[in-house]
Amino acid sequence: MDMLTEQVNLEVYDKNEAMPRERLIERIRDKTGLICLLSDRIDKEIMHAGTNLKIIANYAVGYDNIDVDEAAKRNIYVANTPDVLTDTTADFAFALLISVARRIPEADRYVREGTFTGWEPMLLLGTDVHNKTLGIIGLGRIGRALARRAHGFGMKVLYHEPKQLSTTIEKQHNVEYRMLDDILRESDFISVHVPLTKATHHLIAEPQFAVMKKSAFLINTSRGQVVDERALVVALKNKDIAGCGLDVFEREPAVERELTAMSNVVLAPHIGSASVHTRTQMALMVAKDIIAVLIHNQKPAHRVQASSMLDCTDVNNDT
Ligand code: DGY
Repeated sequence: MDMLTEQVNLEVYDKNEAMPRERLIERIRDKTGLICLLSDRIDKEIMHAGTNLKIIANYAVGYDNIDVDEAAKRNIYVANTPDVLTDTTADFAFALLISVARRIPEADRYVREGTFTGWEPMLLLGTDVHNKTLGIIGLGRIGRALARRAHGFGMKVLYHEPKQLSTTIEKQHNVEYRMLDDILRESDFISVHVPLTKATHHLIAEPQFAVMKKSAFLINTSRGQVVDERALVVALKNKDIAGCGLDVFEREPAVERELTAMSNVVLAPHIGSASVHTRTQMALMVAKDIIAVLIHNQKPAHRVQASSMLDCTDVNNDT
């Protein structure tokens, strides 16, 4: 905010949520730059209202909320926040994985509720994480950072991408390629790290749950719509999988009610990148890109290209 206030005329919607759409349409008319949240849908209607817009800077690495092709047609730059949140989000994905496997939220509730009366041999038995197989769907930056963490736990790491990566990259990250069905069949833990595109919408749905191990856990820190949440509820109810850790939801902020009642499910309110340091870096990144475009007439340093929207192998834009 300080950086921006010094250089541009700023209008701030100071609530901790997306701006009401009608208000955004009204207020965008005379603006040349917009900093938006992943919960703001920035489509043709908004860009039509914002005829002076030169840059839309998304305070997120994922940009499925922005019609990038429409922006390109109108010569509006779109920028995002890659890199700075990679490790923080990978930390969180691994935290969800351990939490659900070792039943940490259940254990926490157990102690707080005063139920802990003494050590018991069978109390809250969980699933080991070390030496198990982790399947990473989408080996972009966050997927690779997760692989590094998994190796620390002696895990075998498999990955899936639409196209197999080079042997050099596979060796560098110590990962093995699998087709989607094979990775689902072989993994003890599946973690999803793909951007939301037409190709990845409901990538994990009923047929995918059907091939997963009954003992497997699903982790999702990418975008909710990548997983068919109704099918997930059914898979959990039928015990087709053992549990899941979710930071994102299909109809965010709404959550399938049945998930909230299941003890083998760990839920978080889309906080994968939520560390003080990372959110500060993300803020600086969008501020610098706004200044680059509006004050220095330069391209944004973290520009999103329209064509990459269609390519879920694009490792520069993973979430
Ligand atoms: C992103 O950046 O896309 C995350 O979902 C929030 O940091």
